[in-house]
Amino acid sequence: MNVNGTLVTGRKGVVAITGVSGFIGSAVARRLTAAGWRVRGLARSSSQARIRLSTLDKLEIVEGTLEDSSSLRQLVRGSRVVIHCAGAVRGAHAEHFNRVNADGVTALVRITREMAEKPSFLLLSSLAAREPQLSAYAASKKEGERQLAMVAGEMPWIALRPPAVYGPGDRELLPLFRLMEKGVALLVGERQARFSMLYVDDLAAAIQSFLEQSEWPQTIYELHDGHPDGYSWDEVVALFSRLRAKKLIKLHLPLSLLSLAANMNQVLSRLTGKHPMLTPGKIRELYHTDWVCDNQAIMAEIGWQPKVCLEEGLRRTMKW
Ligand SMILES: NC(=O)c1ccc[n+]([C@@H]2O[C@H](COP(=O)([O-])OP(=O)(O)OC[C@H]3O[C@@H](n4cnc5c(N)ncnc54)[C@H](OP(=O)(O)O)[C@@H]3O)[C@@H](O)[C@H]2O)c1
Repeated sequence: MNVNGTLVTGRKGVVAITGVSGFIGSAVARRLTAAGWRVRGLARSSSQARIRLSTLDKLEIVEGTLEDSSSLRQLVRGSRVVIHCAGAVRGAHAEHFNRVNADGVTALVRITREMAEKPSFLLLSSLAAREPQLSAYAASKKEGERQLAMVAGEMPWIALRPPAVYGPGDRELLPLFRLMEKGVALLVGERQARFSMLYVDDLAAAIQSFLEQSEWPQTIYELHDGHPDGYSWDEVVALFSRLRAKKLIKLHLPLSLLSLAANMNQVLSRLTGKHPMLTPGKIRELYHTDWVCDNQAIMAEIGWQPKVCLEEGLRRTMKW
């Protein structure tokens, strides 16, 4: 059914996606449309979503926010699956993160459960949820998972905890890539820190694989690009340098400087209402030394395999 209650003809049915104008949500929408799903997306600005997804002529947009239950009902009505990609990724205050990343999950799950079609529910959480003590963002993602498990009842659900996701369309890492193009690599955090990564289309492919499964086991899965021990910043910079045939100057930003900027952002954000990326919580995330995750459970469950290694992923991202 479309938002007016009439039948639409996606071969596999309607999939409702929140955050469809975002980096990951738009990649998921493209992939599922190509696989024969009829995508209906929630976006705060339908014009922005249409610009970002201009190649998807059959995309249906519901304009609204996670705080607006009538938009959520319009979004979810008649869908077979709900994929919750919307989330607050920047910000300086716990209230903001909790409102979007925890209360938003509760509201959407409650509404999904009301639907006669009994859709399944996929939550895009984050590996950050493994370390909720580090930041308000991490705590809110963990709380979102907890709310899902608590409110879902019998509803089939899964939650995914991706590590750092990158690829064409990612505006958060873009400034770092641009700087590397100019020959400067900014290094933040401990030298021995290791982190997993995941190319955005591989994440979208994992989501597609779940949609082809009949059983959703109410479980949380980690997933990464198949490189078992993750990467260090030195390794990523060396790879970039090799791909560009360019020697990079490494600048290790001192913690004192980062903390100063982060504390200023925290104060300014109260005054301006803006949501900064660099905050004291983000620094604690960046200084955490183990962001390596595990693929075994998800591969055993759905037979998904990541296809894009970091070298290929960086190549595609740089082209963009
Ligand atoms: N990128 C990563 O490396 C990464 C890693 C792990 C997990 N994640 C998770 O993946 C999800 C998507 O992240 P992303 O990287 O795609 O971020 P993004 O590009 O900022 O997308 C976030 C989306 O959420 C929407 N949104 C935010 N607040 C909303 C609200 N109150 N109501 C409705 N929509 C709202 C945004 O809408 P607008 O377009 O209107 O701003 C945007 O479409 C997030 O939940 C994030 O926690 C991301």
